[in-house]
Amino acid sequence: MNITELNQKHAISGAAEIIAAGGGLPAVRVLGPAHGLIYLHGAHVADWHPPGQKEVLWMSGASLFADGKAIRGGVPICFPWFGPLGGVAGAATHGFVRNRAWELESIRKVAAGVEVVMKVTSDAASRAAWPHDFVLRHRVTVGSELTMTLELTNTGTAPLQAEEALHTYFSVGDIKQVRVQGLAGTHYIDKVDGKKEKTQAGDVDFTGETDRVYFDTLAPTTIEDPNLRRRIRITKEGSRDTVVWNPWIAKAKAMADFGDDEWPGMVCIETANAGPNAVELPAGQQHSMSAVISVENG
Ligand code: BG6
Repeated sequence: MNITELNQKHAISGAAEIIAAGGGLPAVRVLGPAHGLIYLHGAHVADWHPPGQKEVLWMSGASLFADGKAIRGGVPICFPWFGPLGGVAGAATHGFVRNRAWELESIRKVAAGVEVVMKVTSDAASRAAWPHDFVLRHRVTVGSELTMTLELTNTGTAPLQAEEALHTYFSVGDIKQVRVQGLAGTHYIDKVDGKKEKTQAGDVDFTGETDRVYFDTLAPTTIEDPNLRRRIRITKEGSRDTVVWNPWIAKAKAMADFGDDEWPGMVCIETANAGPNAVELPAGQQHSMSAVISVENG
């Protein structure tokens, strides 16, 4: 469907419309009072402004917007694997659904704001990369909170195993002053220290490249940002893991779609099921993972 047809079918006057956004890619713009922008490419939330707030999500000024490429910033969806796929040369990092167009299923006004539902269904190309039949839906509600729910249905005849993440990029004042609360005492794999297993002592702070998968983390996490004088809270369900990432100087420079000087202004806190906590789903069953994001000033 082209943008005119998408608008004829789904636009809601004064609440939501479909526009040609970055690279001409179709995106749902939620018009207020909370503002949002959600690309159909990757079902990718690229902007969320709750009333009275600066942007909460971070987007790179160097992001690509093209078929086959991931958008840098916002909320990429990693599925059906997280990170590189072990043993498979050339497999897309973080899976293939963030690199392709999803179908817009519905837009409606709900009590909490505007809900946008997108889906991607297994096809010949997905089966060549990952031999399972599935439907993956992403339900996003843009309101004073941002709620994202990833719903996986196994439509095949055999069980499947999948990793998944809402790879959320948050905008911060200065990463060196940020602290992340809610992970103290949990175990993590430190990807920048030979994948050693460690235990988190106190809050997470940032003094260099940080790339960690925290396992069995069910509690909410909070980003304390003294610079922007706000606290961002991430509450989740159906997710056992949390990934924390900032590329710092050298890795930022090495990434073509990430500005060299952008790293102090972002942090990723990712709601995930990865590694030993990958989702195991029998035929015909459904699994949901959701994150609710809210912001408090002060
Ligand atoms: C994080 C990973 O989730 O995503 C990092 O833990 C990775 O290892 C980062 O570098 C960005 O990945 P990508 O594929 O979007 O460049």
